[in-house]
Amino acid sequence: MAQAARLAGEAGADIIDINMGCSVKKVAKSGSGAALLKDLIKTEKLIKAVRKAIALPLTIKIRSGWKEGQPAYRTLARIAEESGIDALVIHPRYATQGFSGEADWLIVAELKERLHIPVMGSGDIISPSQALALKKQTHCDGIMIGRQALRTPWIFKKIKEMEAGGPPGQPDPEERRGWLISYWQWIEENYQGPAQIKALRRTLFVLTRGLPASGEFRQNVALAPTKERLKVLFEEYFESLIALE
Ligand SMILES: Cc1cc2nc3c(=O)[nH]c(=O)nc-3n(C[C@H](O)[C@H](O)[C@H](O)COP(=O)(O)O)c2cc1C
Repeated sequence: MAQAARLAGEAGADIIDINMGCSVKKVAKSGSGAALLKDLIKTEKLIKAVRKAIALPLTIKIRSGWKEGQPAYRTLARIAEESGIDALVIHPRYATQGFSGEADWLIVAELKERLHIPVMGSGDIISPSQALALKKQTHCDGIMIGRQALRTPWIFKKIKEMEAGGPPGQPDPEERRGWLISYWQWIEENYQGPAQIKALRRTLFVLTRGLPASGEFRQNVALAPTKERLKVLFEEYFESLIALE
């Protein structure tokens, strides 16, 4: 891990984050990700070795512990702070919970009170107003959004707008079209062949969920054989949405 961190630094990384939050089987069964929450003696050595190896900002992302009834976050957070970690992010669920139950934001508030380094919370945020409310309730220094960012990538911009006093809300069709165009370009640059059309379809599905007449649009998208046809469908659909405004 120390060597990997050093190499990542040499390759131009701005920050190193140690992933102790991933609970998926193939990661945890090798002792990585959230499995590190089970052996804090080993984890302390690991954090210290990485800290010694790099001068870059070093953060850790943790869960509350491996399984319910066995919280690890208090001890681990203390170890991390004493080892010179620059910030800590917690997804306050136990690893064995996966995504079931609810994220326990009281744990975020508790860690914020216990630690001197910045603490960030993650888990179950689905709207800008909820993001701001949780920040206020827990006094945490930052929040991380996972699943909802995949569904509504504009959530970060909307949070900033709300923080500056703007109203909550969804992007209008014009703005949404802008998001789709930038994703389209990114996908064209980064994917080729069948993977490209698959990624374009998936993006069109996700970013039009819940819009007027999106059912028919999505059916057409599913059947479109080429990228060119997808583009025509996309343009026609958004023109009709903008006309509805
Ligand atoms: C596709 C995906 C991959 C993720 N990978 C990791 C990971 O490698 N390490 C980690 O600590 N958390 C990982 N997470 C968890 C998120 O960072 C986040 O803590 C969690 O999804 C809860 O936030 P949410 O309710 O906003 O999704 C992942 C989440 C998703 C959706």
